Amino acid sequence: MVKLRINDREIEVPEGTSVLDAVFHAGYDIPYFCSERHLSPIGACRMCLVKVGTPRKGPDGEWIKDEDGRPKIFWFPKLMAACTTRVSEGMVVDTLADEVKKAQAGMVEFTLENHPLDCPTCDKGGACELQDRAYEYGLFEKYYTEAQNGLKKVLYSRFEFTKRHADKHHKLSEFIILDRERCIHCKRCVRYFEEIPGEEVLDFIERGNHTFIGSEEWPLPTGFSGNITDLCPVGALLDLTARFRARNWEFEKTPTFDLTDAAMSAIWVDSRSGRIERIRAREHPETNEIWISDAARFGHGWTKEGRLERPLLRKDGELVEVSFEEAADFLRSRLGGTKPEAFGLYLAADGTMEEGYAFAEAARQLKTEHYGFENATRHPASALPAASFADLLASDFALVVGDPAEEMPVLYLRLQEFLKGVTPAPRYFHGTPIADLRLEERMPRRPERLAAFAAYPTRLFAFAGVKGVYAPGAAGALLAALQAAMDGRSLPEVPGVPEAAVREAAERFLGAKTRTLIVGAEVLDDPEAAERVAAIARAKGAHVLAMPPAANARGLELAGLFPEKGAGFGEAGAQAVFYYGATPPAEALQGASLKVFALPALDGLARAEADLVLPAKTYYEKRGLVLNAEGRLFELRPAPTAPVGAMDGVEALAFLLAAWGKRVPARSVPEARTRLHERLKVPLSVPEEGVLFRPRVRLSARRGAVSGGDLYLRPSMWRARMLKDERVRRALGETPLFVHPETAREQGLAEGMRLEVATPYGRVPAVVTLDEAIAPGVLQLPAYGRGTGRRVPYKVFVPSGGAA
Ligand code: SF4
Ligand code: FES
Repeated sequence: MVKLRINDREIEVPEGTSVLDAVFHAGYDIPYFCSERHLSPIGACRMCLVKVGTPRKGPDGEWIKDEDGRPKIFWFPKLMAACTTRVSEGMVVDTLADEVKKAQAGMVEFTLENHPLDCPTCDKGGACELQDRAYEYGLFEKYYTEAQNGLKKVLYSRFEFTKRHADKHHKLSEFIILDRERCIHCKRCVRYFEEIPGEEVLDFIERGNHTFIGSEEWPLPTGFSGNITDLCPVGALLDLTARFRARNWEFEKTPTFDLTDAAMSAIWVDSRSGRIERIRAREHPETNEIWISDAARFGHGWTKEGRLERPLLRKDGELVEVSFEEAADFLRSRLGGTKPEAFGLYLAADGTMEEGYAFAEAARQLKTEHYGFENATRHPASALPAASFADLLASDFALVVGDPAEEMPVLYLRLQEFLKGVTPAPRYFHGTPIADLRLEERMPRRPERLAAFAAYPTRLFAFAGVKGVYAPGAAGALLAALQAAMDGRSLPEVPGVPEAAVREAAERFLGAKTRTLIVGAEVLDDPEAAERVAAIARAKGAHVLAMPPAANARGLELAGLFPEKGAGFGEAGAQAVFYYGATPPAEALQGASLKVFALPALDGLARAEADLVLPAKTYYEKRGLVLNAEGRLFELRPAPTAPVGAMDGVEALAFLLAAWGKRVPARSVPEARTRLHERLKVPLSVPEEGVLFRPRVRLSARRGAVSGGDLYLRPSMWRARMLKDERVRRALGETPLFVHPETAREQGLAEGMRLEVATPYGRVPAVVTLDEAIAPGVLQLPAYGRGTGRRVPYKVFVPSGGAA
């Protein structure tokens, strides 16, 4: 620890702390622009200048003393940037000196010199760091003391000439727009791309007054680009999905969690007049730090279109709006003759634990084995031990089977930290350090810490010391080979992966002191493979981070909704079905004489097949508990955007069971939570930052074939419902159908050919994309959240004129 003085306060901070963090830790404030938590401090903006002095030692190794016998302070001849200066023993920092105040006011004036005064029309207005600093530290009608002249009055800015003009509407992608006039050259966005996702796609062009932000790329690569709109301290980089939708103070800001993937990043839902207008990242140091994926940020358009407010009942072949009473009468008349044990109850992947409890309890009372949740894998995710991202960062080696960038995007960003060897930052009174001096620009990644395997070359391959592409469906064979290599046995063959790569990965894994195994949907869907993961972790000692394709898989499994025996979500077998929050593949409805859905809006299947559709809430609008991949329990908080008649899963199920005349397990979320509390000791209230909750779960895997065809559904961070939004469709472009050139020749397909692929989830227009890096024989298509990591049957239809 290092002792130093900030103004009048003596403090102690860890060695290596920046003066900026020491100042905040001491409870004082100084302005800053270019510094940003999680980015390297670079001292670019000079906004954080402070007066710094240190004691010095003489030739005898003793402190040089002043006339009072105390170590003499030698002040640096110039003010120092607090963000790039390291604390030292006995240092003295003055943030209140006149020269500091003068420098702060001068820097604000200088920064504003070329910044346009368009705050009234700027989306950042009211949440702009430059606006705030200008109020706090800028030159208004304000006095400051000058040593010689007493009080001096300074009036407003002295720059009265024409400001610099630059491109104000420069689109960087379908999601992000850049206003070059507003840029204050803090370099946060440039550093972000290199330091966080590891893509150098933005940079400063030109010099001096002409400097502007530019990119060779159009559009910016999607995946993690949206975080720059949060990072930009001014309104230079803006979220196009929310542009001009409201002033910052007009938004209702709801702190909740994202359920696009199982990391469950903390988010702000900004809504206005009952519509979700913007999603922003919310700081959660342990899980998502301050990052979210583009899918989580920009994929909310589906929540606004065609929302149902009242039930829709099929009459004469058409779905027509009816009252809740009529819907209840319909259910009463149609469910009367239904055998309870043949009734199917299914919940979406983003259902809450309270909903999971209600569905599981209802299934138990009805004595039906037909229940489950969307994207449940054959091996329950919670049968593998949960590890936190901090456990990963504390490891020496990570072995990945899957694609974290698509399956759990925030984990991909945490892996970048892991590759740089950055452990979680120490905490100060003000939280995460603002200028963490352990971070540097262009820090080397250490590929020797990572082995990555997947059914196609993933983004992670660029950083992995050992990598391999296996044939889709061969994840189990890979794990068998890895286990054999670790045990010194002869290796079974892994289609696509050379033996040397398996041996090297196993050797590095065993050679590391601490290790983490990261596995995706494909492994969880293969019980044998998942059991090997558990066995390796047990025998060799490793943390396991599983990436289930259902966001709340752990929570729903714990609530009792894992389908161990009967027909699960998307499997035919039930005579009457109730699907809440999502629809299954069409074939799952075969044999069902009554089809009831509860959905936020109609989709193609419900339009064609439903007998009754009830209005449902989206996860942004629900209160409820969810359990992330780390085993962290979060509480969702509802944004005020649900239509009046929309019901959560507990209410919708209660409505159906009451009409049927059956016992209702819970009528409301609080009631369901009380029952969950009694059964599982789930906390009744959860702190905003969540709490680790990892009870032992005893569930057995579902058996059965995992490979059902020659189309592999690649993990994708985007969900099918997000593609309803035209902006998302434009951003993602045409859906690629990846084909090995040899397979393309055999099937008469050519690069750029436009066709339609019929999958169990419907027909998808796609464009043939030749890819030599994947295994021949099996085509690959993005799953968009349905059937992730599975092999399914397909048919290809080439419309006339489908050639490129
Ligand atoms: S665009 Fe924004 S984040 Fe990027 S350098 Fe300019 S002000 Fe900074
Ligand atoms: S120089 Fe920009 S915050 Fe220190």
